[in-house]
Formats: sequence, structure tokens, C-alpha cells
Amino acid sequence: MSRNLDKTRALYRRAAETVPYGVNSHFRYWGPEDTMVMTRAEGPYMWDADGNRYIDYRLGFGPVILGHSYPAVVDRVTDAIRHGTVFAWMTPLEIEVAESLCRMTGSEMVRLSNTGTEATMHALRIARAYTGREQFIKFEGQYHGMHDYVLFSTASTPRGAVGCRRSPVPHCVSSGIPKAISQYVITLPFNDPEVLEAAVTAHWHNLAAILVEPVLGNTAGILPQAGWLETLRQLCDRYGVVLIFDEVKTGFRLAKGGAQELFGVRADLATYAKAMGNGFPISAIGGSRKIMSTLQPGGIAYGGTYVGNVAGVAAAAATLEILETEPVIETIHHRGTRLMNGLDEILSRAGIPHCMTGSPSMFSFALGTDVPPIDFRSYAETDEPLYHALVMALVERGAMPDADGREPWFLSYSHTNAVIDATLQMFEDAVLEMRR
Ligand SMILES: Cc1ncc(COP(=O)(O)O)c(C=O)c1O
Repeated sequence: MSRNLDKTRALYRRAAETVPYGVNSHFRYWGPEDTMVMTRAEGPYMWDADGNRYIDYRLGFGPVILGHSYPAVVDRVTDAIRHGTVFAWMTPLEIEVAESLCRMTGSEMVRLSNTGTEATMHALRIARAYTGREQFIKFEGQYHGMHDYVLFSTASTPRGAVGCRRSPVPHCVSSGIPKAISQYVITLPFNDPEVLEAAVTAHWHNLAAILVEPVLGNTAGILPQAGWLETLRQLCDRYGVVLIFDEVKTGFRLAKGGAQELFGVRADLATYAKAMGNGFPISAIGGSRKIMSTLQPGGIAYGGTYVGNVAGVAAAAATLEILETEPVIETIHHRGTRLMNGLDEILSRAGIPHCMTGSPSMFSFALGTDVPPIDFRSYAETDEPLYHALVMALVERGAMPDADGREPWFLSYSHTNAVIDATLQMFEDAVLEMRR
């Protein structure tokens, strides 16, 4: 079977004339034949320029928690922007959103920004200013955005480039980042308390923060092992290090209060974005009053023309209200469990060695292994080419997770049981094709 992609490919070729690689973000490049041009999205679906419909499991890399073009969000935004879009002053809506964020996440104070990148950049700066130290720890396979400090040992790093487990090498994933920046980052394997403790003990004098995605949201959604997040908390308390949870993917998705609520471990600062705005550009940093209060004019630089822009803030106000008052998270959890179990069963029946990873609202699976991967290193041992081929066969049939298994499948409130059943049928067909 094959889709007609004539218009999509023609548009892509046109894009590539004026936009490098025909995309505005590298993560959207699937090669010259398979990079998509989409024209419409609604609920769980997305349509390409040829009118092919896909059940969307990328959901813009996670933000679309309620479903595409969710009417209550779209209405709230359109009503709000009729009365202005940026004021360079505080608005009542920003106060409403700040109050919702504090209530839902347990933060004492919050500041808004527009993207996850801005939020993690500001959070690191706050942690450095608060502690008077300069280095930070991040974990291999984790992604925290596009600023220079964090583009080390992310999921796209070649496995061979990170050194041995007891002595990891930070691998810079981009040209153009000054070499000196690497002295500020210590990269470590996730879920390895022994290596972590050794690093904190050795570096704490100049260690401002541990910056961590509480799950490996950019490596198959791999979960923290029992005690891992608690160990981070204890070490930060012992050595006066700021614990930053990057909840850009987990926030308002794993639980209303994000990973902090789900795993029962509190961070000093947390960054939020994606699901808080159902696809509109909005992000936030939340934390204790003590640390957030270091944000003083003349003290720590913080700002941005579009911070608090009406479209993003109105989207957040509507999205957070729905998340607070409707059983969104529970419903997604329930349906995601059904989808995960169904995929698991189909792979088992087909005799394909595999492990399911992550949690039902953002999960993936690793192929070619029966041993669950626990970090970037063990995930890299799995059969990534087979995963890619299987997903491409699925996309051909009309369901679209990311072709890279490190990017989790995301579910929204609009993915009904019927949508899940249709996905499972397509998956079964795709697996059969693989076996043939
Ligand atoms: C955990 C995490 N942090 C930060 C970011 C950066 O967010 P943004 O793309 O909005 O800058 C991402 C993006 O995927 C992310 O997954």
C-alpha cells in the first residue's frame, strides 16, 4: 500500500528552496521523501497536503494534551486576542494563570516565558545566582532545549561518544558552541546513583544545580528506578545544590502536578511548557518563594517582549481550567494503558522481542531486547532500525508516532477508545508486513 504524497512532496521541495532542509526545526526532518507538510489538525487527527489523515501520536512533540484545535481553548484565545496581543504590562489573565500554576504544581511563585528553552535557560541562571556556583549536572539522553549550556549528550548523541559509565564525556551536539561552555556541564548516566554520588561529592563546591527530566522524556520515556529521584533530592539537600526538574514534557501530563506529584519528590525549581498551553507558545518556571525571590530587577536578568503574550496566556488559562475540572489525566492514563497493552500483545504474538517503556500518556517501546532499557546507553543497544521501519509501515496506514523511538508516543484527551482500536488494527497490519 502507498499513500499519494504528490502535493506534499512538491510543497516540501518548494520549502527546501528557501528554508534549510525545508524545515524550521531539525527534529521535523525525516529525509527528502518522508518529511511531511501538514495543512490541518483537529482532535486526534492531522491531514497532510494530499488529504491523507493520520492519527497523531507526536502531538507537536507533546503539547497537545486536549486534542488539536480544542474548541474551548481556541475560543478563549480568539476572544482574548480581539482585545490586544501584547501590552508590555501585567494582565489579569497572567495573574489567573500564575495562581492556577501555583495551585496545581505546588510552586510558591512562578514566572512565565514562551518556550521550554527559555524556561530551562532562566532556571539555570537563577540556580547559579542563588548558589554563587557555576557548574551543573545533566543526564545523558535528556534534552532541555536549544541554548548552549544544555546541548550536551542529548538523545541524538552517538552512543560511542559519551565515554565509559564511570567517567562520562560530555558530548557537544552542535557546532558553534564555544568550547569553554563544556567546562560548566557534567553529564552522567540516568538511574545510576553510584556514579551520581561520586560526581556530586567531587564537584559540589562549584555545583549550582542538578537539571533533570524526571523521566527520560527524550529517550523513550524511560522511568526513574525506585529511589533515583529521592537520591537526587537527598544529595541536593546535603550539598546545597538546586534541584531543577525539567517538567516541560511531564508537567500537566503525568499528573496535574506533574512528575513531582506522581513520584512524590519535590524539586526546588521546575520548568513547564508544552501541555500547559495545548500547543500555544507558553512556558513557566515555578519554585519556592526563597529561590524565586532572587529574581530581582538589577539582580538576575529576566524578561522578553512576548513573555505573557495574550495568545499563550489565554491558551494556558483555558487549558489549565480544563485540566483542573475534567478527568483529563485519568482518561488519558486509562486509554494509554489500553494502547500500550495492545501494542505489547501484538508484538508478543508476533514473537518480536521488545520492552514497553515510559508511562501511558507518554510511552515508547524498545525492540530487539527483553531487558528494559534504564538509560540512554542501554536504549542505544536496542534495534532502532527495526523500530523505524515498523513506524514507517504504520504511518503508511494512517497512525503517526515519531519515527525515532526515543521520542515517545503522546496521547491526548481526544484519543478515544475507537481511535485506539483503529491504531491497534493498523499496528497489527504493520507488524504483519514486517514479518513478511
Ligand atoms: C524536557 C524538555 N525540556 C525543554 C525542551 C525545550 O522546549 P522548547 O522546544 O519549547 O524550547 C523540550 C523540548 O522538547 C523538552 O522535551
